[in-house]
Amino acid sequence: MKNYFPTFLLIVVTLACVKTYSQEINIIPQPMQVQRGNGTFTLTRSTTIGIPAKQAEAAKVAAYLANQIKSASGYELKIVETGGTIEFSLNSKTDVRLGKEGYTLEVSSTSVKVNANTGAGLFYGMQTLLQLLPVEIESKTVRDDVLWVIPIVSITDNPRFAWRGIMLDVSRHFFPKEYIKEYIDQIARYKFNRFHWHLTDDNGWRIEIKSYPKLTEVGAWRVPRTGTFGSNTPPKPGEAATYGGFYTQDDIREIVQYAKDRYIEILPEIDVPGHSMAALAAYPDLCVTKDASIQVNPGTAFSTWFGGGKFEMHIDNTLNPTDEKVYQFLDKVFGEVASLFPFEYIHMGGDECYKGYWERDPNVQAFMKKNKINDGHELQAYFNNRVNKIINSKKKKMIGWDEILEGGTVQGAAVMSWRGVKGGVEASHKKLPVVMSPAPIYYLDMGQGEPTVETPIYDYARLNRVYSFDILAPGIDSTYVLGGQGNLWTEQIPTAPQAEYMTYPRAFAIAETLWSNPKHKNWENFVKRVENHFDRFEYAGIHYSTSVYDPVIRVTKNSSGNLVINMTTEIEGIELYYTLDNAWPMHYYNKYTEPIVVPEDVDIFRVVSYRNGKAVGKVITLTADQLNKRIREE
Ligand code: ACM
Repeated sequence: MKNYFPTFLLIVVTLACVKTYSQEINIIPQPMQVQRGNGTFTLTRSTTIGIPAKQAEAAKVAAYLANQIKSASGYELKIVETGGTIEFSLNSKTDVRLGKEGYTLEVSSTSVKVNANTGAGLFYGMQTLLQLLPVEIESKTVRDDVLWVIPIVSITDNPRFAWRGIMLDVSRHFFPKEYIKEYIDQIARYKFNRFHWHLTDDNGWRIEIKSYPKLTEVGAWRVPRTGTFGSNTPPKPGEAATYGGFYTQDDIREIVQYAKDRYIEILPEIDVPGHSMAALAAYPDLCVTKDASIQVNPGTAFSTWFGGGKFEMHIDNTLNPTDEKVYQFLDKVFGEVASLFPFEYIHMGGDECYKGYWERDPNVQAFMKKNKINDGHELQAYFNNRVNKIINSKKKKMIGWDEILEGGTVQGAAVMSWRGVKGGVEASHKKLPVVMSPAPIYYLDMGQGEPTVETPIYDYARLNRVYSFDILAPGIDSTYVLGGQGNLWTEQIPTAPQAEYMTYPRAFAIAETLWSNPKHKNWENFVKRVENHFDRFEYAGIHYSTSVYDPVIRVTKNSSGNLVINMTTEIEGIELYYTLDNAWPMHYYNKYTEPIVVPEDVDIFRVVSYRNGKAVGKVITLTADQLNKRIREE
């Protein structure tokens, strides 16, 4: 007995110095089955990680975990072949419940066991394990004030959909290679397994193509502009195109491997025949106008949108579908792309293709007549079919935005539904594979809170709307739904922190729809977990949006002609404090309990959200003019 006394004392002293934890389980996405036990497993310096001999995948996953633990705790856990306290092991006999990506995770007071049929399953089990540890596990500096406990639990998990994606647009703004890796690491935590890389558009061509060097020598660079994308000033005569960048083929191979190590496939997108201004700045002969003055667009307004999906482009940004040179070009481009990306699909865009230049060109018209092509949609379908053949000739499958359903079907091609869900429903009835990424709900560039404090944008998708949405839209044939993805277009997103602010927490909601059992959806429980992940992001140095705390503000007029401000919140437990007298709002001022009847001469209304006694949202300021504009009849 005597010998144990100092150890006992040490534990008591240690417990007194470290933080205590509520031991709540806050996994995102919610696993399929979680059975909670009593007590905890404690990870210490002497914990070991076991991987059976010759299981290279298990070894990779173990190394990933050991690395994260080292970073946060300073512990250098030994990796052993047998008898590890934490064990990762591939099943010797397939466990059919787990499929290709599922896992089991058993935590007892003395051991942690992760089993799966595949490396991907082990990786996801490891991500879940990290999320069971205290939030400080995300720390980039060593924390010696933390007791590294894991709740006793038994988890069986398996994803709902095979395609769980996030798209990043690197054309509107270029994000360097190192940041792409960080972004991939972030989405890997949430068990996303597809990274859709939007590599080309009007504002920059970002992938080195050795057969066409001017694509990056010219197409990757534009004149620098800071401001609201879409209303920037055009290039001035002689102004140097210094803003941009591109990925070399070596960079791409490196990123593909990096993603593969995290069980993420990369879907490359070369957006044609529209959205091609950067390519045309380099090779103007590829469009019907052959306009040598075309430049890489720095975010000027070059189109008019008439509503109902109708638009006009004032600068030609469309490849010529009647020119064999275009198909020779695409054969080389898709050939090089196919050799760089091992994923089975290549995305060819196909969206928002303006047909006006085609329609006004006599050679195009003659071609259409000769080939019995009746209109621009059918001409684009002709182009799509040619591209499909090229992509298939490189042993890849084609996927395109839902415009590829217009003017004729492309047999065997998959469809990404973005103009709402209708393209997805239609494609599923045509027995084409479908990925659901409907705007505005799955568009991560949409505003997520009070419009006056978000980046200006044309539509909104608040977190609760994203969370409650299901990709299996009414009428869809689910047999053909591969899964879904969130899309981050970057017109208004020039920096990494802004990319993260727009991605999180909405990507959590998307991850949950794509991975978890929809019957388990529970908004209050989700919000609790989101807040735990906000804490994790604080340690990880990842930005996120707190817009979920901001009120929804509606304004009406009462019978006496006064403005009436009505506020609701997305989540429970938010207190709103406001002022009408120009003071900066905080908890010493008015607490919102009922609609505010605004006295006549008020100039400025301000409001801020509190949660558990702390300001959490942004201060929102609305002038009398803005309040008046917001009036709507209830
Ligand atoms: C798209 O948002 N144009 C696919």
